[in-house]
Amino acid sequence: MRLLATGGAGYVGSHVSAAFRASGHEVAVYDDLSSGHEWAIPPGTPFTRGDVRDTSRLEAALRSSRAEGVLHFAAKCLVGESVLKPDLYFDINVVGGASLLRAMERAGVKRLLFSSTASVYGNPQTSPIPEDHPLNPVNPYGESKRDFENLLAAAARAGAVRYASLRYFNAAGCAEDGSLGEDHDPETHLIPNALRALLPGGAPLTVFGRDWPTRDGTCVRDYLHVEDLADAHLRAWDRLCRDGEGGVFNLGTGTGSTVLEVLEAIRNEAGRKVPVSFGPRRDGDPAVLVASNVRARRILGWTPCRSLADIVRTAWNWGQTPIKNVERRR
Ligand SMILES: NC(=O)c1ccc[n+]([C@@H]2O[C@H](COP(=O)([O-])OP(=O)(O)OC[C@H]3O[C@@H](n4cnc5c(N)ncnc54)[C@H](O)[C@@H]3O)[C@@H](O)[C@H]2O)c1
Repeated sequence: MRLLATGGAGYVGSHVSAAFRASGHEVAVYDDLSSGHEWAIPPGTPFTRGDVRDTSRLEAALRSSRAEGVLHFAAKCLVGESVLKPDLYFDINVVGGASLLRAMERAGVKRLLFSSTASVYGNPQTSPIPEDHPLNPVNPYGESKRDFENLLAAAARAGAVRYASLRYFNAAGCAEDGSLGEDHDPETHLIPNALRALLPGGAPLTVFGRDWPTRDGTCVRDYLHVEDLADAHLRAWDRLCRDGEGGVFNLGTGTGSTVLEVLEAIRNEAGRKVPVSFGPRRDGDPAVLVASNVRARRILGWTPCRSLADIVRTAWNWGQTPIKNVERRR
């Protein structure tokens, strides 16, 4: 089928788009390149550089690619920045989302997969977190994602859209074949930052808190390989097309790793220890964030099959090629 990927030049969007292409779909990209990269768009891909708030441009991209559905990755997604610039986060993530729904309606496109996040839950009351856990986001990023989920639900009730909302926990790792990887500036994710600390001139990694109520005192997060994440999208898309059924799905492995366990996996892969300095806890960080993925397993028939070692190996493979990456960025 033909799809338009908003944010398809970003980290998750480029990997998921690659998986759709590998499954025989045609994927055009709509992206303003504010945090995405032109090198992440394969040569020959129909590409429109534009902002999701530009409804007419989106409509034109949907029409010219003859899209039958949308993969909506485009968003602002830095928690700390969202606290400082809440207006920007609501503007792009909610108003931009509304603009996309308007463009889809005008172009007669009804199907959508939405990149949501574990941040919609806020501080978990139970662990692992099921999809029916109360939504109590604790920052504007999570609030903006929850608000767009609410808008999608209302649009679906009005018959305007059929959608699945995929709540990612921590996407991590890079393409197995080394063709794509994670490249954010600033980078806020643990694994790429830990790997950068190993590169020549890399600053030590700051670990925020070692007195959390966890097995080794560091925070637990649910790291899911980006190619397992892509597989879940394909399954959610197939179901949407086959049965017209969407829904809300947590995407995580269902098991978490502490920061120290991640650093140990990196030591095993890279053969040396990540230099670390311990800082105080950060406000608003929950001790443990782990997905219940029972629903995605049962309804989508999805099983994440890559390990933390696979995540670290593919990320290290990607991070080891800084020259190639710098050339690509030029
Ligand atoms: N990476 C994770 O662990 C994670 C976890 C939970 C949810 N998510 C969600 O997944 C999606 C992708 O995240 P990512 O990590 O790939 O981030 P990313 O920054 O790499 O990708 C976002 C993409 O959207 C584009 N974009 C941003 N604002 C835009 C705008 N106004 N108009 C058009 N394009 C715009 C950027 O240029 C970029 O290519 C986001 O919606 C994010 O909230 C990611």
